Amino acid sequence: MRHLLDTQTLGRADAIRILDVAEDMADTQQREVRKLPTLRGKTVVNLFFEDSTRTRISFEAAAKRLSADVINFSAKGSSVSKGESLQDTAQTLQAMGADAVVIRHGASGAPLTLATSGWITAGVVNAGDGTHEHPTQALLDAFTIRKRTFGADSRGRDLAGVKVTIVGDVLHSRVARSNVWLLATLGAEVTLVAPPTLVPQDVSGWPATILYDLDEAIAQRPDALMMLRIQLERMNAAYFPTEREYSRRWGLDPQRLSALGAGSMVMHPGPMNRGLEISAEAADSARATVLEQVANGVSVRMAVLYLLLAGEQAGTDSDNQREA
Ligand code: CP
Repeated sequence: MRHLLDTQTLGRADAIRILDVAEDMADTQQREVRKLPTLRGKTVVNLFFEDSTRTRISFEAAAKRLSADVINFSAKGSSVSKGESLQDTAQTLQAMGADAVVIRHGASGAPLTLATSGWITAGVVNAGDGTHEHPTQALLDAFTIRKRTFGADSRGRDLAGVKVTIVGDVLHSRVARSNVWLLATLGAEVTLVAPPTLVPQDVSGWPATILYDLDEAIAQRPDALMMLRIQLERMNAAYFPTEREYSRRWGLDPQRLSALGAGSMVMHPGPMNRGLEISAEAADSARATVLEQVANGVSVRMAVLYLLLAGEQAGTDSDNQREA
């Protein structure tokens, strides 16, 4: 694998390979082998132009557990505020010896630009670009669903027949996009639920069923209900229902939580708006996988960095992500 830019072009075999390597990584962590020597001598740069808690820290933990050196770059407080371009910033970090660049950027397509421009030779991992994609979030979500569904028998399996319902601000969500593509590739039945004004215009081309009524979706007893963060910072008040109305019609409140079968898992990528898209009862319930998702994120990101940086022997079946 040369880069990980999206899940739309990630094939089934490659996706399962990443999830299986993540299982191996999780096993080493459970055996309390805190550090593997695999990436000794490699340098991973976390290049974050947007805020992050989970993704940035998780990539840092993943790289360190594989013995890589880590350089953390945050646009805030850097020379980006003096007008330095993405090209010059990336080339500066490459000159410090980056082998992999993990980038989060507000512009959809920034990771693709970095991977294909020829500015740098490092492998590129998309850690969230605009409203486009967040592939490692989808991989850790798929890992969590597979683990909860199949337990110790997870290795080698896809998600055929598993019903996943994704609820909320689909319009602005790179998490939703990456999940729709990946889950469909793995054979899951994906349903999206959102207010009509928060459904993207191009959704007819997505491998998912669209509903507008959350209670109708819950009555179908999904195996996983994934609540999305309402991205108030990207919202135009003209097309967002009031927060009160949103919470009443599309929020996961205690009544809806009890209507959801006992076997359904409640997912959220974080950060959560408690009391808006998800109630405290749902977020803190035994069915919630929120913290499990965070823990699994480290194993999945270890797998991605390993497959990217450990050389030919770690290459995926079809190496289908774009070459720089
Ligand atoms: N889920 C997620 O991407 O969280 P952060 O914004 O905290 O990284």
